[in-house]
Order: sequence, then structure tokens, then C-alpha cells
Amino acid sequence: MSLQGKKILLGISAGIAAYKIPLLVRLLKKEGAEVQVLMTQNACQFVSDLTLATLSEKSVLSEIFPKSSQVSPTSWTCHVALGEWADLYVIAPATANTLAKLASGLCDDMLTATFLTMPATKPRLIFPSMDREMYRSRSVQRNMLQLVEDGCKIIEPESGELASGLIGEGRMPEPENIMASIHSEFQNMLQIDRLKNKRILITAGATREKIDDVRFVSNYSSGKMGFALAGEAAKHGAEVVLISGKTYLETPGGVKRIDIESAEEMFEEAKLYFEWSDVFISAAAVADYRPEKKIDGKFKKTTDSFELQMVKNPDILAHFGEQKKRNQIAIGFALESSDHLKHAQEKLIKKNLDVVVLNSPNIDGAGFEVDTNIVTILSKEGDIQEYPLMSKRDIATLILKKSSCFFDKD
Ligand SMILES: Cc1cc2nc3c(=O)[nH]c(=O)nc-3n(C[C@H](O)[C@H](O)[C@H](O)COP(=O)(O)O)c2cc1C
Repeated sequence: MSLQGKKILLGISAGIAAYKIPLLVRLLKKEGAEVQVLMTQNACQFVSDLTLATLSEKSVLSEIFPKSSQVSPTSWTCHVALGEWADLYVIAPATANTLAKLASGLCDDMLTATFLTMPATKPRLIFPSMDREMYRSRSVQRNMLQLVEDGCKIIEPESGELASGLIGEGRMPEPENIMASIHSEFQNMLQIDRLKNKRILITAGATREKIDDVRFVSNYSSGKMGFALAGEAAKHGAEVVLISGKTYLETPGGVKRIDIESAEEMFEEAKLYFEWSDVFISAAAVADYRPEKKIDGKFKKTTDSFELQMVKNPDILAHFGEQKKRNQIAIGFALESSDHLKHAQEKLIKKNLDVVVLNSPNIDGAGFEVDTNIVTILSKEGDIQEYPLMSKRDIATLILKKSSCFFDKD
């Protein structure tokens, strides 16, 4: 797709890779994008603002307080207006220092202040670039994780020869590869934008089934997949209700969250919203069984063993799969440890689903608690697509793209 008329903010911080950015500006302009460059003061040491202003055909901005007294507060130097103006914010290269500022909400220059004022629904692509050990440092990794949780897309640096002479990860991708990421971001937006104003009901996290007043039966689900789905859907203009088991995760912007503990509570809440929803995504790890009777108070350690009678919980996904009307879409997850595909296909048919996302608990980096997963997406039309290890946020984008296919373009 062409970038004609797309409005792109390009933030440049003081990494050595900044020398490649004039070429990126040329490529963007060639495709018809409007580019507003925001540079940190330190970045001016690496690349000239004159070059960037000439190529972008716009003044380069770096300080929040413009030097000239002629500039009106409502002019384009206003960081708030810039965030409103842009379709996409690309930060390349992103230094360790700028990542730290972005992750903690510091905003003492145009690059960081505009980042904060840009509406949460707009996409941000961040290209960290630095020396290998700097990149591997715990603080850089922590800050990147925080930014992903805040809804940004971090494009991992490439591996290769670094300016320091070391070999390893930390190289900013070449401008052509940055262009490919920008294209893919706009492509995703175009497709997922069909979900704008659609109503999406998502369940997330583990349920807790009480044994007594202080103990429960549960599982390792962190809720990260469901929260990533909720955040991405809201970012693309959907109305989102998220019913969540206990989790430490922050509620994504624009999402209505309802906290529950048990499968039965989740079921009751979901019943209230199911009719309202256009899409139902069951990302929760709902306990299949619960203790038949909760013991009052704290169960005393008086015997060597005891038996806990368990009874079946409601199958929330199967219930709504059956209930759904023709124009509603139901998406489920399948976590299988053997005969993966066979069981996922059975689930798709038996529970009357439109899409099943299959994942396995047996692979490193996939499944519960981690930020990444390896999935296969099966749809009722019969197509099966396998994907490599990806962030849960990118998987959320894939799932939403898949569900958007069921809706006509407005
Ligand atoms: C020659 C040179 C190259 C540098 N390259 C990088 C780099 O690639 N990545 C990085 O994070 N910091 C790099 N730094 C350090 C940053 O420039 C420094 O942390 C600076 O304060 C970042 O400022 P900014 O984030 O406001 O742009 C480099 C410094 C020098 C002197």
C-alpha cells in the first residue's frame, strides 16, 4: 500500500544509527508521506537538522519552548497538536536514554513530550539501537517491556557488526526494513479498522475456585493475551468489555474492565454482555472444575490427607458458541499438550466457533505468564495458519485482523 498522505512523526534520538535517517526520510517522502521530524538536542550531534528539514520539507523540532518569540502557541511547534495530527509515531533510533524517558513518562523535549500527548489509540513503532551490552542490560530490557505493555510496538534491533566493533544485537534495521515495518503497520490498521465501533467482549486470566476462605484452585494464566487483545481492539476504535480473573496487569486505555474470581462469576458477567457484543473472545483459562462445596473458614490440618470433591464448571465458550446469532463471532483458545491440531479442530466444530487459536504449553517462550507465544490460527472456513514465536501484542493484532475479515468494509 502507498503511504500517500500519511502523516508520520519521526523521532530521532542520539544513537550513531541516526546517520541513516535522512535516507528513511527520503523513502517516506518518495511515497507521498508527510514527515515531521522531532530530534533530541543530542541527536543534532549525529545528523544535521538542516539535512532533515530539507528532505522532509518541514522545520525540525527539538525544544518544547521555541526560541523565536514570533512563534504562536497554536503553531505546529505545539506538541499537543502534533500528537493529534499524526497517524503514526516512529522513533528511530531510540537510545537507551530515550527509551528510559519514554517508559517512565519523562517529557523534557519535543520527542518525549509529543510521545506523551499523542492519543493512546495511535500506533507507535520504536526502533531501539545501541551497543550490545547496553541493549542486553536489565534496565533497557525492563524499559522495553514497559513500553510494550503501554501499547508500543518495539522492533527488535538486528544482529551484526556494531559501531563499537562488537558483534551482536543492537543494530538499527536499514531504512528499507524500517519502511517495511511502517507499511505493515498501516496495512494492519487498514484491516483492523473494520472493528471500529464494533463491540468486543473478552475474557482473560485464570479463574479461582475456592476451597476454603484462604485457599483456591487455579492455573498459571497471567491474563496477558486477553489484555493485549483488549488494548489492541480499543486502540482501533472498538468498544471493549474485558472480564478478568485476578491479575496484576493494568487495564488498557479505553477498556471497560470487570473483575471476577470464579468461573461462575465470569459466566454471569459474560451473560450480561454477550447479546451486546459483535465479537466474543474467550482468552481466559477457565477452571474446568471447582470444589463442590466451599469450606467455611480455614480448613484445619488435622488429618494426613483429605478428599476434595470437584464438580464441573459451566463451559462458557461452548455456551456462547451455541447461543451466538448469525452476525456474531466467537473466538476461542485451545491449549493442547498432545494431538494439538486434531483437538483444536474438534473444539472449533463442537463449540460452533469462528476461529480457534491453538497454543502449546510445552514450548519455551510460549503459553502462560510469558510475553510471547507460538500459535496456529484455525478458522471455520478450514484454513490453518502456523506462526513463529511472536509477542502477545502481535498475536493480538493477528487475531483481530482475522476477526475483522468477518465484517464488511464500511
Ligand atoms: C559516538 C557516540 C555514539 C552513541 N551511540 C549510541 C547508540 O547507538 N545508542 C544509544 O542508546 N546511545 C548512544 N550514545 C549515547 C547517547 O548519545 C547518550 O546516552 C545521550 O545522552 C542520548 O541522548 P538522547 O536520548 O536525548 O538523544 C552514543 C554516544 C556517543 C558519544
